[in-house]
Amino acid sequence: MTLADLNTLLTARQSCRAFRSDPVPRGDIEQILTSAAQVPSWCNAQPWQVVVTSGAETDAFRSALRAEAETGQAQPDLPFPTGYSGVYQDRRRACGWALYEAVGVEKGDRAGSARQMMENFNLFGAPHCAILSSPAELGPYGAMDCGGFVTAFTLAAQALGIATIPQAAVAAYGPFLHRYFNIPDDRLILCAISFGYPDADHPANQFRTERATLDEFVTWRGASTE
Ligand SMILES: Cc1cc2nc3c(=O)[nH]c(=O)nc-3n(C[C@H](O)[C@H](O)[C@H](O)COP(=O)(O)O)c2cc1C
Repeated sequence: MTLADLNTLLTARQSCRAFRSDPVPRGDIEQILTSAAQVPSWCNAQPWQVVVTSGAETDAFRSALRAEAETGQAQPDLPFPTGYSGVYQDRRRACGWALYEAVGVEKGDRAGSARQMMENFNLFGAPHCAILSSPAELGPYGAMDCGGFVTAFTLAAQALGIATIPQAAVAAYGPFLHRYFNIPDDRLILCAISFGYPDADHPANQFRTERATLDEFVTWRGASTE
């Protein structure tokens, strides 16, 4: 395995916002979860717990989530960012606009952007959803370990031709999710990952996000060899 192989996987993955409805075989889901669980975690605590929905369970969840998002109050277990400023705001806007442009929502079309936002609660049509939680007592480091799990999940899925999207939007409805999936209050619900086979031709899947270059995020100290 070479770095080029890894980079092929890393660059092939993109967040999928329109899925086909056909299910992923259980064996493939188990392989993705087994691969994701190989990531490092502080003290090897492996803090992740995952609820995975399939079939009618996904459809029932999507309906209940949509109803909650239409009427309920957002109350995530993990506080959402308090703001995005400077370059973070620029990048956030760029990826939002790229999505809206891809799906034909024009600037200022609030109804159109709200409709696209609500697709989060339709799980973008995915046949499966994984809800990820971490023990509250592990705090931000548990969440950090689970971030690695999310990344490895998306890459392992990509290697099997399965598309994913991590979704903080779903985690906004913390109390609902705790009740719905019987997740105890001593665990923090961090995010969902909707997954399945991509609807490759759908407009929502026709854009790519960009990445900053090294000079934008690395500070070199000391001499290194050429
Ligand atoms: C923790 C996390 C939460 C995210 N939440 C959402 C979400 O709620 N809705 C959404 O459309 N995309 C969500 N995304 C996807 C990001 O927008 C996406 O990863 C980013 O724009 C980079 O694009 P790419 O994944 O296609 O490379 C999330 C990604 C991460 C890692």
